Amino acid sequence: MNKIDIENLRKKIEEYKAEKLADVEELRVKLLGKKGEITKLFEEFREILPEQKREFGKHLNELKTIAAEKIEQLRGELVDFVEGGDKTDLTLPGDFHNLGTRHPISIVREEILDIFSKFGYAVAEGPEIEDDWHVFTALNFPPEHPARDMQDTFFINPDASDPIILRTHTSSVQVRTMERQKPPIRVVCPGRVFRNEAISARAHCIFHQVEGLYIDKNVSFADLKQAILLFVQQMFGPDTKIRMRPSYFPFTEPSTEVDISCNICGGKGCNICKGTGWLEIMGAGMVDPNVLEASGIDSKEYSGFAFGMGIERIAMLKWLVNDLRHYFENDTRFLWQFHSVV
Ligand code: DAH
Repeated sequence: MNKIDIENLRKKIEEYKAEKLADVEELRVKLLGKKGEITKLFEEFREILPEQKREFGKHLNELKTIAAEKIEQLRGELVDFVEGGDKTDLTLPGDFHNLGTRHPISIVREEILDIFSKFGYAVAEGPEIEDDWHVFTALNFPPEHPARDMQDTFFINPDASDPIILRTHTSSVQVRTMERQKPPIRVVCPGRVFRNEAISARAHCIFHQVEGLYIDKNVSFADLKQAILLFVQQMFGPDTKIRMRPSYFPFTEPSTEVDISCNICGGKGCNICKGTGWLEIMGAGMVDPNVLEASGIDSKEYSGFAFGMGIERIAMLKWLVNDLRHYFENDTRFLWQFHSVV
């Protein structure tokens, strides 16, 4: 007996692979059976010089443990396999799992953010549960403005003097951004908003918006117009035109509502654009100086524009979805239609 024999046998045991339980039994007999290799080594051990016993004894015992463990391990693996075989027929085809698809709202949100990120806009987010200041007061809503009414806004604690509400628009994130960041500011703010509306094909109490805000020195209405034009041409195609109608929002002056030329009929008039050739897609305007000042930005030094659009609306125009409720019901027959849209 020598150490090299023991070492070689150890390696052989460790590398041994069994395909069936019979192989394991064969290995056991070969190593530990009456005439097994390890049994023989133990017999030889009796003959060796007493001063060598200690060292060889240690190696031999280790070898025996390794062999026993290996046999147990192989047996365990193969028993699992054989017993599992009763329940699992490995030749059966696998179960088919439906892969999820991206939700159309996520697809459009990402597309909008991608376009604006190419223009150098960062993404800013804010809380859905808000206070009156960020949703209304800092945005120049007068105290008696109807949007503050419980008819339109969800109140968490309606009786409190400083109410906590669910934000009715993502314009609140403009305020939060201006409060913590000095101009130049260029952000797009995606998020979920809430309004106390009855649910129908055309209205929902939850929907999504993307707000945009650009504040710097000498920002003009022409910059706003160009930013929106570039955006809609990337979103709806290079031939898309825009039209700006005068409008009113408390937080912008002047304010405008922006229409795009109907991407269905190309502006000729169809039932989607109700014969007008135009589709409304967003509100926008120059940030009212009161709004800048409320967030600590000097309105004599800085000016800016803001815009806000509904993601559901853009997705509706893109894919002709005719009922807002589809977006929220998670009917896989609806969602699956977007599986090929990357
Ligand atoms: N917050 C408005 C809404 O929810 C949308 C909007 C209009 C946002 C004009 C703006 C804007 O930033 O300038 O209806």
